[in-house]
Amino acid sequence: MADSTTQVTLDKIVSLSKRRGFIFQNSEIYGGLGSTWDYGPLGVELKRNIKELWWRDNVMKRDDLVGLDAAILMNTKVWEASGHLDNFSDPLVECRLCHHRFRADHLEANASCPDCAGELTEPQQFNLMFKSHTGPVESSGGLVYFRPETAQGIFVNFLNVLNATRRKLPFGIAQIGKSFRNEITPGNFVFRTREFEQMEIEYFVKPGTDEEWHNHWLEKRRDWYMQYGIDPNHIRIRRHGEDELSHYAKATSDIEYLFPWGWGELEGVANRTDFDLRRHSEHSGTRLDYFDEASGERITPYIIEPSGGVDRAALTFMIDAYQEQEAPKATGGSEKRVFLKLHPKLAPIKAAILPLSRNPELTPLAKEVYFELLQLGRWAIEYDDSQSIGRRYRRFDEIGTPLCITVDFESMNDQSVTIRYRDTMNQERVAIAELEARLTQQIG
Ligand code: GAP
Repeated sequence: MADSTTQVTLDKIVSLSKRRGFIFQNSEIYGGLGSTWDYGPLGVELKRNIKELWWRDNVMKRDDLVGLDAAILMNTKVWEASGHLDNFSDPLVECRLCHHRFRADHLEANASCPDCAGELTEPQQFNLMFKSHTGPVESSGGLVYFRPETAQGIFVNFLNVLNATRRKLPFGIAQIGKSFRNEITPGNFVFRTREFEQMEIEYFVKPGTDEEWHNHWLEKRRDWYMQYGIDPNHIRIRRHGEDELSHYAKATSDIEYLFPWGWGELEGVANRTDFDLRRHSEHSGTRLDYFDEASGERITPYIIEPSGGVDRAALTFMIDAYQEQEAPKATGGSEKRVFLKLHPKLAPIKAAILPLSRNPELTPLAKEVYFELLQLGRWAIEYDDSQSIGRRYRRFDEIGTPLCITVDFESMNDQSVTIRYRDTMNQERVAIAELEARLTQQIG
């Protein structure tokens, strides 16, 4: 695969995110909380679009998947059985001089401190699960963990879903929800944080068919990112080495993206074998298995797990969509145009209604066009009559709005408006009566 580099720096994305309202630093007025971020009006729409498309494509459009929404807090025995209490840890080293902490597996062997070159301590295993307590007294009896993956909620509900839906293998259960990890080295904006959202599928298959299904999901999931605009040169599949595998996995491949700092995991697709169902059967005493009519035997299904992060996907789509180009200025010469070439389905705002200027003659018609489209409830539409038309185009380019619809003085005579397309800057005259059809064609 061609190895091309992404042009945008992370700083540009962070700055655009704050300026335009995609992502803000959490608790900013109090100095923030390390690696914790809040999604603003546009970020919320982008994340919602990602989740809706994921759900639509993976659950609604398939006849072999159903959904689930399990609680974040679970019985502590879940984490004993799943192996997370014993194994969900990273090797932590600390600098004896500056006391900064690092993941030993992210450093070269015998490395010194990357920040001050001081000596590092021996690695110690550090469990990543956040702890809390239920009830008013902090006793070990009320100990709970914030889930570090949504997956376990699916495994412990396997029988409930099977009995309620009478599904036959192969079938999957999908879930979107928050997960928490006390990461040693969070960073790179929303790439690695302590609180994040996951979109996970646990796909239950007959043992022996697992490798075939693993390949199926790897390709499906990689293609999904490309379907929504990710440059094929910026995405690849990388198989984990034996030493990288999680405690539950027989094989895992990552769908990686070429981030500004290099290749990194966007989504993992693991073959979890029958590990989870077997362990929960042993620990709970409830048999989590499946009666196979063909063989007349009870089998413990194998699980293929495509697991992606919503925040990581949002960051990836923004980075990949970021474009800079020289564009002609209305007053002559040229200027740098920044635009997010987001897929229309992902764009937070689908269309902007812009009167040519804030003129009392134009406002009524512009508002009428705006409210008519808004009331359809189909698309996120904005109205903007501030500043010059050129500056408004730039603003909507920068937030990835595919269509700008300008109402001008001619509009009152010909009942038409001008549509300007974000990517080409081409303009087209369209009758107001045809706007809904045109938006349906362009946005869906
Ligand atoms: N249930 C399997 C599982 O959780 P994972 O590879 O640890 O596997 C899956 O996580 C996905 O969740 C990752 O590919 C990433 O997109 C997202 N993710 C994991 N840890 C994250 C973090 N600290 N911050 C943001 N996203 C994270």
